[in-house]
Amino acid sequence: MAEFDILVTGGTLPDGRVADIGTKGTTIAAIGDLSGSSAGRVIDAAGDLVSPPFVDPHFHMDATLSYGTPRINASGTLLEGIDLWGELREIATVEEMVDRALTYCDWAVSLGLLAIRSHVDTTPDHLNTVTAMLEVRERVKPYLDLQLVAFPQDGFFRSKTGAENVRRALDMGVDVVGGIPHFERTMEEGRASVRALCEMAAERGLLVDMHCDETDDPMSRHIEALAYETQRLGLEGRVAGSHLTSMHSMDNYYVSKLLPLMAEAQISAIPNPLINIVLQGRHDTYPKRRGLTRVKEMQAQGIAVGWGQDCVRDPWYSLGTGDMLDVAFMGLHVAQMTSPEEMRRCFEMVTEVNAAILHLDGYGLAEGKTASFVILDAGDPVEALRLRCDRLAVVSKGKIVSEKARNDSRLSLVGRPGTVRRRHSAG
Ligand code: FE2
Repeated sequence: MAEFDILVTGGTLPDGRVADIGTKGTTIAAIGDLSGSSAGRVIDAAGDLVSPPFVDPHFHMDATLSYGTPRINASGTLLEGIDLWGELREIATVEEMVDRALTYCDWAVSLGLLAIRSHVDTTPDHLNTVTAMLEVRERVKPYLDLQLVAFPQDGFFRSKTGAENVRRALDMGVDVVGGIPHFERTMEEGRASVRALCEMAAERGLLVDMHCDETDDPMSRHIEALAYETQRLGLEGRVAGSHLTSMHSMDNYYVSKLLPLMAEAQISAIPNPLINIVLQGRHDTYPKRRGLTRVKEMQAQGIAVGWGQDCVRDPWYSLGTGDMLDVAFMGLHVAQMTSPEEMRRCFEMVTEVNAAILHLDGYGLAEGKTASFVILDAGDPVEALRLRCDRLAVVSKGKIVSEKARNDSRLSLVGRPGTVRRRHSAG
């Protein structure tokens, strides 16, 4: 009998080590030099990058792949997107939402994206969104970890049943407490919503992930409140602030006080560069703000920052494929993270950092961890970002869930005979 179920030979790990990986059941049984071992399936990964799976810490799966229904977002703003989604969620059936989400999960898996945190709108009293996403979470469980956030899209206080519906969603089995303080009626109500939602999370022992300060308003201060409540309730290391775009426009002195507070509270940050580069700054003339939060400055303070996808073909964003390399690629540009060290960090942000933000169990390439990983047609993480390369094989929980033939593009240029090489340097 073979020693391993799957044996991946000679792959390059993100840290540059070359190693074989042997899986048994759903676990990585061995990693290192496994030459001479036998396996049910052997994959030659010499010259290829073998990475732990991509993780998306911020998505909206109830809205995904609905672009154009019932109409498109003509202004391109966050607020028109919210209005449009308000119309759509009343006409979308549970079956449609499940169907769209499962299609997206297929896309995700083929791209090596094996864990997703999705916000689920808890505004409508029928909670069809929650019913649909709980069903999707169950159906994809064998191959994709879906973490759901109770998200009061129209406001915890601003919509009549906002508070009650968040509680109902959590009772139904939603995993994480969400919020949207900048969309409440006043700054005071936004502040109060942060307090109430963090208390709810503390009582139930849940993680928190709030859409926070997703505006261009330099005076939006909800991240400060979130850090305060995190410390007051002992939730350190369990709270994330998503977007934080106001920080782009805040006064520098204020930010110099804010970032250490966030670091003390061990709050993580989830910017969503594809979306925020198109949604923010829409009210500006010129100069036009980029609206991405202060990524490098937060990292310099020791704050965990992970790139999120947010939207794919929905009321807020017309494009997207589910590829976390696209997300990191955009983030790298907008945040100007172009040194080799910063580019490698961008790759970590869509893998290891995001996994830590989600508190994923068994994540990583080491003996005893879950047998989930991706073989990429690139020599190293920077090359993977540059090429947004093919995923040659995706293994999830010990099973090969996606494979793609290597595309060896052949160049035949006049005067350069024999220019036939793989696109990455290791080839
Ligand atoms: Fe979002």
